[in-house]
Amino acid sequence: MTARIPVLTIDGPSGSGKGTVARRVAERLGWHLLDSGALYRLVALASRATGLESMDEAGHAVCAATLDVRFSSRPDGEEQIWLAGQDVTAAIRTERAGDDASRVAVMPAVRSALLERQRAFAQSPGLVADGRDMGTVIFPEAEVKIFLTATPEERARRRHKQLKDKGLDVSLAALSREIAERDRRDSSRAVAPLVPASDALILDSTVMPIEEVVDQVLSVMRQRVG
Ligand code: DC
Repeated sequence: MTARIPVLTIDGPSGSGKGTVARRVAERLGWHLLDSGALYRLVALASRATGLESMDEAGHAVCAATLDVRFSSRPDGEEQIWLAGQDVTAAIRTERAGDDASRVAVMPAVRSALLERQRAFAQSPGLVADGRDMGTVIFPEAEVKIFLTATPEERARRRHKQLKDKGLDVSLAALSREIAERDRRDSSRAVAPLVPASDALILDSTVMPIEEVVDQVLSVMRQRVG
């Protein structure tokens, strides 16, 4: 029998800080990282090249199944993402890509086309998986499940700051509306909605510095996995 690969899942809404926490925890443990949102963003980008609006669910699913994606790290440690040999790191991080991703993510055929691909990230010595349904659908047997939240106001404020730091001028009110709409779509879809797993530990990062969240997650890991 092959040994089980330990998995830590971190789910939560956009702007909760889960991406940063997942990356830092994976670095500290020396484990692999699955940024599942990037896969949905890539499907949306690949679909857009073919016609996001005109395509039916089967077409989006074909895009998901045939994604030619590669993840690598830049010398400064930043993640780099390649789609069919093209560097799409910046292209998939736009607000539009996030919104498109949330739309294709509603489609059951897209979600099932990505299922095994996500599970294949579980490699020795362990995996930190970040997304919306990591603990509920993709890795229901995960050793540790975290659900990271923050108030919608705080999440909009963080996203606004990130965009401002990149030199982009977006109104806070417009961002708040977009975040509320994305939360609504992600939480109300029929398949794999954004909900905490029944055995997830819920952490609120509204007033907790990211380093403290990382430390708490690592301490839960040590208690459960040793
Ligand atoms: O985590 P993110 O913002 O990169 O995700 C973008 C969208 O992708 C998100 O709004 C919903 C979808 N998504 C999903 O449905 N399931 C996941 N496991 C990850 C992301």
